[in-house]
Amino acid sequence: MTGASFGRVGVVGLGTMGAGIAEVLARGGLPVVGVEVDGDALERGRGHLERSTGRAVKRGRLTEEGRREILDRVALSVGFAELGDCDLVIEAVPERLDLKRRVFAELDKVCRPDAVLATNTSSLSVTDIAVTTGRPTKIVGVHFFNPAPVMRLVEVIRTVLTEPEAVERVAALAEALGKTPVTIGDRAGFVANRLLFGYLNQAAAMLDSGHATRDDIDTAMTAGAGLPMGPFALMDLIGLDTCLGILEAVHAETRDPRHAPSPALRERVTAGLLGRKSGHGFHVHD
Ligand code: CAA
Repeated sequence: MTGASFGRVGVVGLGTMGAGIAEVLARGGLPVVGVEVDGDALERGRGHLERSTGRAVKRGRLTEEGRREILDRVALSVGFAELGDCDLVIEAVPERLDLKRRVFAELDKVCRPDAVLATNTSSLSVTDIAVTTGRPTKIVGVHFFNPAPVMRLVEVIRTVLTEPEAVERVAALAEALGKTPVTIGDRAGFVANRLLFGYLNQAAAMLDSGHATRDDIDTAMTAGAGLPMGPFALMDLIGLDTCLGILEAVHAETRDPRHAPSPALRERVTAGLLGRKSGHGFHVHD
């Protein structure tokens, strides 16, 4: 089996990131248990998985039979009961500390004592989450990038409490799944977001200042800096609420003014313009 460091893997939360992570695991040959809070959310998660694998078939990257095998490897259910025999559970619920703490307290009860519990948080403290469980040595961060099936980086985050073996096993799994893991400490934004969001926030501040348009800034960074997407297209892909949460977390820790969320970003989040997922962010989406 590809991910030999773990057998069955659970994924809690099947939004964009959770469904993407479940797909990556199932593509790697692992049996996956994907859970959601209710039937509607579960059906949305199923939809993500079906669309993403369907796109791969359309592009000739996957056969219909291969797709069926991947989908069959993901057992979907409501509630946490099916996670009891997982060796690893990856949490990918919305970025709210109170919610993540509740999820981890529940996982701590349901999962085997030797199971490793991982959070896909992009901005919250893994340590804050770990100390709400009775097994802080087995709590790691495992931060995938959007779109998870495409982006190669996985940041594996160790806290001062995490046992080395748990970190090594998660990094080995990421590698076995064809990802490139980097193992780092628990600081807001970790590495990639801490660097990336200073840039994204400056793009929003530049828009506010009126000296360049959205499209000029996006074009400058694709045609000039060789990036696959301009900053506004990328913030829309990530989700503007997620962007705001990351900036707030990094700013709270560093007090670096480059991370003070720009009004252009904040006002869109307040207005419910969240990017691709709401159909409108900095750009309008079909
Ligand atoms: N899910 C699954 N696969 C997807 C996908 C999705 N949402 N979007 C695109 N793909 C796949 C396509 O199927 C295609 O696969 P093949 O090459 O195997 O056919 C491949 O990605 C390229 O897609 P497209 O040709 O449609 O489009 P593109 O060439 O413009 O690439 C992109 C799309 C991969 C998103 C590219 O624009 C890109 O890399 N953008 C930057 C993304 C990025 O920086 N992500 C990190 C954000 S930060 C983050 O995520 C951290 C955080 O905590 C918020």
